[in-house]
Amino acid sequence: MKSNFFTQRRSVLAKKMSSKNIPDEDLNKILAAGIRVPDHGALNPWKISVIKGDKLKLIDENIILTEFKKENPNASVSQLEMESKRFQRASIILAVLSTPVEHPKIPKWEMTLSSGAVCMNLLSCAQSLGYAAQWLTEWYAYNKKMIEYLGGRPEIDKISGFIYLGHKLEEPMERRRPDPQKVISYL
Ligand SMILES: Cc1cc2nc3c(=O)[nH]c(=O)nc-3n(C[C@H](O)[C@H](O)[C@H](O)COP(=O)(O)O)c2cc1C
Repeated sequence: MKSNFFTQRRSVLAKKMSSKNIPDEDLNKILAAGIRVPDHGALNPWKISVIKGDKLKLIDENIILTEFKKENPNASVSQLEMESKRFQRASIILAVLSTPVEHPKIPKWEMTLSSGAVCMNLLSCAQSLGYAAQWLTEWYAYNKKMIEYLGGRPEIDKISGFIYLGHKLEEPMERRRPDPQKVISYL
């Protein structure tokens, strides 16, 4: 089979990326790709928050670490160290929020799927430009304070993912892929 970008695409773990600057020109391309997704009824049932610069540290300290300490009062020093730098592993984080709306015909499920498509387009576009990128949720995607900070309605909206963008330190190794025969059938 002739290979193309989509048959080779690979994520780079956030812990393996460097957080050097990403030019606005490339960020804008990634964002444009992110909002160019199939969307039944053109409801735009998603939002993207761009988190960069000082905001990465601010969220690490004021939300992730603070909430972690609250939920884990007996956490070890090494756990606290890890939680204090989650976002600062990346140059930029794109937080994608699924924001479903009431609609007489279009099911919420389809709005959720469209939000996943935003994540995948952001991820793929960044990777196609040669950046390191990873789609993560982690425990803080389900944290009420985080959803509120991103402008979400905690009872309705959900974080579809944080797309971590950075620079590759080395080419990633291939990971185990599904056996096509087990997941694809021809009827
Ligand atoms: C919605 C979603 C959430 C994820 N959250 C996590 C996570 O919290 N932690 C993790 O280690 N991987 C998580 N992953 C998986 C990573 O993205 C993982 O690096 C991915 O399997 C890499 O695959 P790729 O090379 O095909 O892009 C998540 C994936 C998806 C789709």
